[in-house]
Amino acid sequence: MHKVTVLGTGLIGMFYTSTLHGLRSRDQVHVVYSRSEDRASKFAGEWNIPHWTTNMEEAINHPETDVVVIGLPNNLHEQAVVAAAKAGKAILCTKPLGRNAAEAHRMLKVCEEAGVFHGYLEDLVYTPKTRKAIKSTQNGALGKVLWARSRETHPGPHSDWFWDKEQSGGGAIIDLGCHCIEISRSFIGKNVKPVEVMCWADTQVHPIDAEDSAVGLVKYASGAIGQFEVSWTFRGGMDLRDEVSGTEGTIWLNHWLRTGFEMFSAVGEGGYVAEKAEGATGWMFPVGDENGSLGYGEMFADMLDSLDKGGKPVEDFYDGYVVNAIMDAALLSAKSKRWEPVILDDWRGDAETAEQDVLKDYDADHYLIKTEKMPDGRDKLILKEKASGKVIQRIS
Ligand SMILES: NC(=O)c1ccc[n+]([C@@H]2O[C@H](COP(=O)([O-])OP(=O)(O)OC[C@H]3O[C@@H](n4cnc5c(N)ncnc54)[C@H](O)[C@@H]3O)[C@@H](O)[C@H]2O)c1
Repeated sequence: MHKVTVLGTGLIGMFYTSTLHGLRSRDQVHVVYSRSEDRASKFAGEWNIPHWTTNMEEAINHPETDVVVIGLPNNLHEQAVVAAAKAGKAILCTKPLGRNAAEAHRMLKVCEEAGVFHGYLEDLVYTPKTRKAIKSTQNGALGKVLWARSRETHPGPHSDWFWDKEQSGGGAIIDLGCHCIEISRSFIGKNVKPVEVMCWADTQVHPIDAEDSAVGLVKYASGAIGQFEVSWTFRGGMDLRDEVSGTEGTIWLNHWLRTGFEMFSAVGEGGYVAEKAEGATGWMFPVGDENGSLGYGEMFADMLDSLDKGGKPVEDFYDGYVVNAIMDAALLSAKSKRWEPVILDDWRGDAETAEQDVLKDYDADHYLIKTEKMPDGRDKLILKEKASGKVIQRIS
């Protein structure tokens, strides 16, 4: 059993606490930190947390906790990590790890130098659906992965600091792109080096300095492409979808809207429907198990099991650093309108990944391009002659 300090009593502090305390869990939030006494004491009361404080250092150094969970605005992650590493505690930090790769790398180093456990709370790679889909991909069900597309769009975040570039580090790319990038990376292979990024970003709607929409392509050393689509301008709730294509198969995942629970009410019930839901009447898409659908349960189980076993979780600060480096390249590309290299001074994956060889032999003299059954019943075979390079078709 772990006794946990939670820093932050906002949306994510609440989700993390409800996950840790949910379903008769062994692990307990023992100390909570919030800026205001009012919020701290109310949160502690709601979640049965024995200690609360408005002093961050005191929360981190509380003698009875061994794990610090960071659920603070992005500009406060580094400060909290440094203090928790100094206290010698296991550290679990929410996404994005840093506001940029330099910040994320400092956080990684400070933990490594202090020898403390570090976990990157990238929940969306942990949803049960995603874990199963990643496993199928690793088992070869899709053949070679060519394209992993991930989309997170909603009408915009729920607190002032997200909209302030200084505190958040950016707009929709930093906030949502971090999830999409790590999802694609998990399907393509975390040992495969991300090489370069091409990105479009714009401020289409909101009066802010950062982008509120972006689409990016991340090219990997295997030749695979990771595509992210993010927006704070999408209307209709929170759209979380992933799509993976390989030489032998395809996976489509939908995590939030229209996942099998659809409800119509002319009058509503006067409350919360699901995160970022825009309406409380008419047709609605409630989510039965929000913590599960967002991956929080599996994520904390992996984090705390790995801590108990002295192992490494699926997501640690190194992953957070790689994601930040990809986002840095995306932001640069959005300005330069060119492919920008992903700068990874500390790369720990495969040194070389051969471009994927996807050519299929039909026979000794031909490659197979395609077979197709036509509406009139004929079979078409499209081949490429190896010697001449000519494309031919045979019809039977
Ligand atoms: N799916 C996810 O993993 C997910 C979802 C939402 C947020 N997050 C991340 O969690 C972190 C917090 O986001 P949130 O949605 O909970 O935000 P929030 O605004 O709901 O809560 C932020 C918390 O930090 C406190 N805070 C704000 N400014 C502070 C300051 N200057 N000093 C000390 N405390 C301060 C607030 O009082 C609040 O308790 C961010 O890094 C965000 O990216 C992750």
